[in-house]
Amino acid sequence: MVTEGAPAVSPWSPESWRRRVALQQPAYPDPAALDRALSELRQLPPLVTSWEIVSLREQMAEAAVGRRFVLQGGDCAERFVDCTSPRITNMLKVLLQMSLVLVVGAQRPVVRIGRFGGQYAKPRSSDSETRGDVTLPSYRGDLVNDPAFSAAARTPDPQRLLRGYERGALTLNFIRALVKGGFADLHHPEYFDLDWVRHSPLADEYHRMVATIGDSLRFMENVLGVRAGETDRIDFFTAHEALHLGYEEAQTRRVPRRPGWFNLSTHFPWTGRRTNDPAGAHIEYLRGIENPVGVKVGPGFTREHVARWLEVLDPRRQAGKLTLVHRFGAGRIAEELPRLIDAVRVEGGVVALVCDAMHGNTRVTSTGVKTRRLEDVYSEVEQAFDICQAMGRQLGGVHFELTGEDVTECVGGARGASEADLDRAYESEVDPRLNYEQSLELAFLIARKMRNAGR
Ligand code: PEP
Ligand code: CO
Repeated sequence: MVTEGAPAVSPWSPESWRRRVALQQPAYPDPAALDRALSELRQLPPLVTSWEIVSLREQMAEAAVGRRFVLQGGDCAERFVDCTSPRITNMLKVLLQMSLVLVVGAQRPVVRIGRFGGQYAKPRSSDSETRGDVTLPSYRGDLVNDPAFSAAARTPDPQRLLRGYERGALTLNFIRALVKGGFADLHHPEYFDLDWVRHSPLADEYHRMVATIGDSLRFMENVLGVRAGETDRIDFFTAHEALHLGYEEAQTRRVPRRPGWFNLSTHFPWTGRRTNDPAGAHIEYLRGIENPVGVKVGPGFTREHVARWLEVLDPRRQAGKLTLVHRFGAGRIAEELPRLIDAVRVEGGVVALVCDAMHGNTRVTSTGVKTRRLEDVYSEVEQAFDICQAMGRQLGGVHFELTGEDVTECVGGARGASEADLDRAYESEVDPRLNYEQSLELAFLIARKMRNAGR
């Protein structure tokens, strides 16, 4: 345990992060306008409730010990223009289908967490971008500015905090209504069938799996007379990178009859690899809230980091409080994940380990396009299962950047999208996402892997 040399714990408050170095924050030209927008945000009602947050924390505690499996997925960055009915339903459908496939493979309940309803702020490797002889602030996500390359578009605009919050609310409102209305009812999987599942080479296997699930449900209900509890009321949780700390602070509240502070803009906030310094502002913010929280872990982390994350974020070693979302890459995971598992064990942590198989596998094509190969993504997940098994623990879940749309941003997969296809439908302003078929294919591969390993 690292206690010597660690800074004395100072009192926490929703704004105590302001006393630390806060990386990746936009430079607003008019701080008074920012304050006005944040004051307005503070008055708006929450997007999620404390009991949902507590319920997710309990489910994450089970994921930490292998009794549940987490599927976390969604866009790298949500865009305001994508807050539409078809986009939201397609995202929900692909996550539902994947989770259905994973339930069969994992033989345990799947916790569904969408990167949506607030995934609008992005960390960038540089504060500015230069094209020709023009240098402008980098695009930092729709919560901050607009990707068009003009001074007006790139100037951080605090009103966007309100627009993002409202779109988060619209997104969640629609998702809640769909889920409540039976869209996700496993008795009617045809409700969430996507049109082009018909064209997928995996369509038959998917439909067989759906039929098996239907049969088991009917058997349980008709023969055993039990209602299949969870199946008709599927929970969907939300997550986003808690990057813009003013935005997060504005929705950090106390609630009646429950101790502590809750971030009520999302169930599961996480901090990214660029902002995970244990002494930095993002970890300071996360340490005071009751939500389960995630920390992204990249190659080159140290034991000291793990010790400090646990000490600061989970001093009571409460299962489900801390999730380590590792993103090492297919080429590095074999050397890095065993070190992470060891470090957690030495510190007595009961954390969920979730494999983000996207961010360590980014490549740039010969023509300068950012992409990822499905083979690398799957290889990283497969290695994660094997390493966990060899070290006597369970992988808690997986984390993907994906979309329900027919985009061409990642290469590989059964239909063999190649680098030459990337031009056809490349939309992302930031990281490349798996399209619908690639996502489903990955779910199948993972389900097979889990089944074969008897998990
Ligand atoms: C992300 O999740 O989009 C991201 C930026 O990840 P990381 O912090 O792991 O690089
Ligand atoms: Co990303």
